Amino acid sequence: METDRKAFLDSLGGAEGVRRMDSEARADALEHQMLAELNSAIQAKEGGDRKAARKYPTAAEVEAQIETRPYRAGAGFLIVPRTGENVKRLPPMPANPTLVDFFKLRFMDTANHVLQSANLAMKNGMSEEIILACLLHDVVQEIIRTDHGWWGAQLFEPYVSEKVAFAIRYHQALRYYADPSVGYEYPDLYRELFGADYVPPAYIEATYQMVRKHKWYMEPRMVAVNDLYAFDPNVVVTIDPFLDIIGRHFKQPKEGLGNDGSPVAHMWRTISRPDQPL
Ligand SMILES: [Fe+2]
Ligand SMILES: [Fe+2]
Repeated sequence: METDRKAFLDSLGGAEGVRRMDSEARADALEHQMLAELNSAIQAKEGGDRKAARKYPTAAEVEAQIETRPYRAGAGFLIVPRTGENVKRLPPMPANPTLVDFFKLRFMDTANHVLQSANLAMKNGMSEEIILACLLHDVVQEIIRTDHGWWGAQLFEPYVSEKVAFAIRYHQALRYYADPSVGYEYPDLYRELFGADYVPPAYIEATYQMVRKHKWYMEPRMVAVNDLYAFDPNVVVTIDPFLDIIGRHFKQPKEGLGNDGSPVAHMWRTISRPDQPL
C-alpha cells in the first residue's frame, strides 16, 4: 500500500502538486478511491491539521475553472480519462457480455468505489435490492457524469426491479440533502466539487421534495448513506460476494448486454466500444 501511495502522490506531482491542482481535478483524483490515502499523506507531510486549514472554493470559483480544462466535467471517465495521457486500447469484450464482464473489462474507474459501497451496504444489513443499487449506482459515470442518477437508472431499468431503478435514479438528488435521522450529512466532497456556497438547481430540489414524501424514500437514501463512507483504500472488494445477488436480481439477457434489442442496448454498446467514431 505504501508503494501505491507514493506512486499515486508522485503521479500528481507530490503534495505540492496536489495543492496546486484545481479543485475539480483534485476531486476527481479523490473519487478514484484515494481520498483517505491522499489526505493522510498530505497531512503527514504538512504535520498540520488538514481540516482546519481546508479552504473550499466558492461556486463562482468552480465556474471559473471550466476554461482551465480540456474536457467537460460531465464527460465519462471511459470517454475522457483524467490522466492527461493517451487512452489505451481496451480489452475485447466476450460475444455475449454479462454485467460481470462489464465490471471486469470496462468499469475500471468506478468499480472499486461501487464495490466498496455495496460491501458496506452488505455489512450494514441492507436488503439485497439496496445492495444491488449500491453496486450499480455510479457505474454509468464511465460514459457520462452529468445527471448520473437518471442516466444510471435508465441504463439498468430493463434488467432490475422498479425499486432498484428508483434507488439509483434518486440517490444523486438526495446526496445534496442531509438526513440526521439516518446520520447522513452533506458531503465535504460536494463543497469541493460544487463550491461551498452552491445551491442545487430547482429540478434537484423538486426531486428531493418528491422523493422525501415517497414510500420508497429510504431506498435511494440508503444508497447515499452507504455511498458516503465508501472510500477506503484499505478495503479491496471483488465482485464475488455479490454474484448471488446479481443472479437473483439482475435479469441478464442471454444475447448479452448490448445485443438484446432493449431500449438501452446502445448505451451498453457505447460502453463496450467507446472508440467507435460514430
Ligand atoms: Fe452517485
Ligand atoms: Fe457513489
